[in-house]
Amino acid sequence: MSAVPDFLYGTAWKEERTASLTELAIRLGFRGIDTANQRRHYFEAGVGQALVASYRAGVVARADIFLQTKFTYQRGQDHRLPYDPAASLAVQVEQSMASSLEHLGTDYVDSFVLHGPSASYDWTDDDAEVWEAMKKQRDAGRTRLLGVSNVSLEHLEQMAASHNEAPAFVQNRCYARLGWDRDVRLFCSERNIIYQGFSLLTANLEVLRHPVIAGLATKANVTTAQVVFAFARAVGMLPLTGTSSAEHMKQDLASREVTLSPELVRQIEALTVSGTNS
Ligand SMILES: NC(=O)c1ccc[n+]([C@@H]2O[C@H](COP(=O)([O-])OP(=O)(O)OC[C@H]3O[C@@H](n4cnc5c(N)ncnc54)[C@H](OP(=O)(O)O)[C@@H]3O)[C@@H](O)[C@H]2O)c1
Repeated sequence: MSAVPDFLYGTAWKEERTASLTELAIRLGFRGIDTANQRRHYFEAGVGQALVASYRAGVVARADIFLQTKFTYQRGQDHRLPYDPAASLAVQVEQSMASSLEHLGTDYVDSFVLHGPSASYDWTDDDAEVWEAMKKQRDAGRTRLLGVSNVSLEHLEQMAASHNEAPAFVQNRCYARLGWDRDVRLFCSERNIIYQGFSLLTANLEVLRHPVIAGLATKANVTTAQVVFAFARAVGMLPLTGTSSAEHMKQDLASREVTLSPELVRQIEALTVSGTNS
């Protein structure tokens, strides 16, 4: 079974290009794939097609790939639901997982994530029911690990108070202006939870343009995106990229070779905390 990789390839918003782009990402070296059973934003069956093509071509075997999918509440879906909306939430989780395994042509995923809690601020009884159902899927061997996404510190604290088990992953949109989600990252690092950061580029366009980052990139002969991914890794994040460009895929993977001194890491964290519009 595949270990947790150091980069995740995100498959959202790729529609009919999902299979070819995911196959390309695997061929270029990505070993972590993020998807969701949410047809509105993801084409999970296309990820399954990419996996079949990659196995057939002998590029990878199932065990080489870290596969992550999500359970999404009905309010985050369109009409193409992977479960019976009249069923209980626990049954919806079961049905969503069964459908994901079918889409992905596998009998287990590596990570199963709650796409987002049911309310903006609180961890509700619905979330508790879903989380317990997700644990059952894990205990049945259909996922190795569990995670939650789009959560605040309050969600995580309430979740910790109502369950005996912490998630293995937290996946959040990572805003530099919020100290790169500092409070949630701190909560995670204190509990050995791996923090997955997405929209590191698109949520932080002003950072990519910032003279400190631009200067650093020029000096090191790398791109500003590579600096951001290197920074993310240096502070302990597992970054996602959703690029559709082969060149960017290569550059993103190459960011693993970019090392930033602790002083530079501190500078990037501080520069963005004090305001990113300069
Ligand atoms: N849990 C959730 O609710 C949630 C929400 C959103 C996303 N996600 C996950 O996170 C993944 C990534 O989403 P994202 O918002 O980070 O990315 P994204 O928006 O899918 O793509 C990154 C954007 O940055 C551009 N870009 C420019 N230079 C780049 C470079 N060197 N490397 C990468 N991208 C570059 C890309 O353009 P090019 O294509 O031209 O490179 C693209 O427009 C998604 O696919 C999904 O799997 C999860």
